[in-house]
Amino acid sequence: MINEVAPGATIGILGGGQLGRMLCLAAARLGYRTHIYCPDVGAPASLVASCTTVASYEDPVALAAFAQSVDVATFEFENIPAHALELIQRAAPVRPPPQTLRVTQDRLAEKSLCQDLGIPTAPFAPVSSSDDCPGAIAATGLPAILKTRRLGYDGKGQRLVRSASDLESAWMDLGAGDCILEGFVDFAHEISVVIARGPSGTVATYDIPENLHRDGILRESRVPSAVGGATRETARDIAHRLVAALGYIGVGAVEMFATKDGTVLVNEIAPRVHNSGHWTIDACATDQFEQHIRAICGLPLGSTARAFDIVMTNLIGSDVNEWRSYLDDPLTKLHLYGKSEVRAGRKMGHVTKLSVIAG
Ligand SMILES: Nc1ncnc2c1ncn2[C@@H]1O[C@H](COP(=O)(O)OP(=O)(O)O)[C@@H](O)[C@H]1O
Ligand SMILES: [Mg+2]
Repeated sequence: MINEVAPGATIGILGGGQLGRMLCLAAARLGYRTHIYCPDVGAPASLVASCTTVASYEDPVALAAFAQSVDVATFEFENIPAHALELIQRAAPVRPPPQTLRVTQDRLAEKSLCQDLGIPTAPFAPVSSSDDCPGAIAATGLPAILKTRRLGYDGKGQRLVRSASDLESAWMDLGAGDCILEGFVDFAHEISVVIARGPSGTVATYDIPENLHRDGILRESRVPSAVGGATRETARDIAHRLVAALGYIGVGAVEMFATKDGTVLVNEIAPRVHNSGHWTIDACATDQFEQHIRAICGLPLGSTARAFDIVMTNLIGSDVNEWRSYLDDPLTKLHLYGKSEVRAGRKMGHVTKLSVIAG
């Protein structure tokens, strides 16, 4: 029997960025209070939350007090130290469960899980010392991408490796720590499955967007994608198997590559609401943020039915200065994250261009 967390309760959210902000807005619509925990004053989520604790993720006293004040806790950012979540779990349920982070925080553990489940990925090998380099290249081939196993995001902590002699310098350049070398995938499309799983195992997925990245940062998501139906079915099936294997609760995303021959390879698993699902706010019966709140509170999942075709574009850095021009199109929905400082590469907002589906 799953205990439902009823409206009126307080949802604790670790992380104060735009994902937390959109979770707070969705929670508020359902009548929940929200408590943000993050290290920064004036974070985007704090501006719309019921209350905020500003403290470090390493502060056991602040974490324990936060845990006491919430009915369920979740996170909007996957690099929360796992021990912080385990500490919170002594006082309040944490969803997704902390053990899912132990896998998804480590690119090697993530790809090994796929391998164990027979789910294709790029060829990969760990690199934790210079001695690992020759064997790793033999496993992946060239070109390859060296990535730090932990803490990477928006393409940070990655180096393209074109020749065997590049690898050791790339590894040094990334801090000579635990890394993973991955074969470079010549993909036809980059796609993602945004998937929700409730505590009793019910699952819902959204229409699969095709995602365009520039400099390692998501630029644009489009639905429908140019990817064929059979490939989309394979992608959905992979996402179902992964969330079941992880015992996942909440909304997450599986980033994938689809090759020309229809093979689907998993790139990474994001254990949280995902940038490639932002369009669901404007185009779907239940958006990914509300769906996450429903899932972690043990409420029934809502319909993911889509009412519009969409192109979602991130406003990165100074793109945000053009905000006014987007409003000239009545079918473009503007979302700004309330970040006062514009910085190059920083996600400042997004726009979703809606098109009425013909027929
Ligand atoms: N093995 C690969 N082959 C080809 N492109 C890749 C590979 N790994 C990553 N990329 C490209 O770099 C982007 C960012 O890499 P990703 O592993 O998703 O890291 P991040 O955590 O920064 O999102 C991907 O969305 C993809 O466009
Ligand atoms: Mg990624």
